[in-house]
Amino acid sequence: MRILITGGAGFIGSNLTRRLVHEGHDVTVLDNLLRGNKLEKEIFDRIKFVKGDVRDAALVNELTVGCDVIFHFAAVLGVDIVADNPVETMDVEVIGTRNIAIAALANNVKKIMYASTSGIYGHTAFENVLTEEILVDPRTSYAMAKRYNEIYLASHHEEKGINVVSLRFFNVYGYNQDNRMVVPRFFEQAMANEPLTVFGSGKQTRDFTYIDDTVEACVRLMDAKGCHIVNIANEAEWCIDDLAIKIKEVTNSQSELQFIEAPRKRYDYEVERRVGSSDKLLEMTGYKPMTSLEEGLRKIMAINYGN
Ligand SMILES: NC(=O)c1ccc[n+]([C@@H]2O[C@H](COP(=O)([O-])OP(=O)(O)OC[C@H]3O[C@@H](n4cnc5c(N)ncnc54)[C@H](O)[C@@H]3O)[C@@H](O)[C@H]2O)c1
Repeated sequence: MRILITGGAGFIGSNLTRRLVHEGHDVTVLDNLLRGNKLEKEIFDRIKFVKGDVRDAALVNELTVGCDVIFHFAAVLGVDIVADNPVETMDVEVIGTRNIAIAALANNVKKIMYASTSGIYGHTAFENVLTEEILVDPRTSYAMAKRYNEIYLASHHEEKGINVVSLRFFNVYGYNQDNRMVVPRFFEQAMANEPLTVFGSGKQTRDFTYIDDTVEACVRLMDAKGCHIVNIANEAEWCIDDLAIKIKEVTNSQSELQFIEAPRKRYDYEVERRVGSSDKLLEMTGYKPMTSLEEGLRKIMAINYGN
């Protein structure tokens, strides 16, 4: 198939690109390299790479000609970056996604796979694991724009029939991730025997999904017809302080945990609890993420640090 991946030089995009290239697909990546280029040379040489902005409608239109599937992953992310740049965050989301939808319709692309986020659930996970039907509660520019785009793309499905899957990723981690995110940040601190800095009590929970499982889910959902919102979650709830302790253990580090108050700008992101259900994913594809956090952390240790 001919596949366009926006944001394909980023963490999830580069891992997905590798997988799709190895499967023999004809891949084009559009990325403005805001976060650098995470594509390995061997893969880079086997794709068409275009350095450009997803907000450029003419460019997006040109790249979707003859395309079967679009993975739309380009985004501004990282809590501090988003909190400092809410307008750019929303611009890239809203204008970029509009360009993708319009170009897809103009060029008869069959499928859009959109990277949404579990962040749109906000503070709703009190007692139960999060299913796709639960009323969402987006409170940040990032989460608001993601939810807007889910609805916008669903409207395109209603009116024009284009197939859409909005993927609600739950804290993806693994190879090629940078230290905007908590797992690689703790790894770096642990390997340097520096304190592992935990915001707040450390008792807030998250559901960590290993990158290979995430890519597997994306690939399996490529065939889905219609319009769907699907959680990509590991279904395991981890406190941030336990994550820090586990990374200390895996890295055999002498680091202490240092609890610090979250800066004011992070408050809207600091939800107490988040754990997802992947039942819908299982029902649709026969697959759900299975790599345990410990297994995933040990893989990072082996791949990134050679032991
Ligand atoms: N990593 C996670 O845990 C997670 C969780 C939920 C949702 N997501 C979503 O998944 C997608 C991929 O995330 P990631 O972790 O790989 O992030 P990432 O920052 O590593 O990748 C995003 C890529 O988009 C590119 N980009 C940014 N603005 C662009 C623009 N205007 N035009 C073209 N390219 C642009 C960046 O250069 C980067 O390579 C994003 O849409 C993100 O919101 C990720």
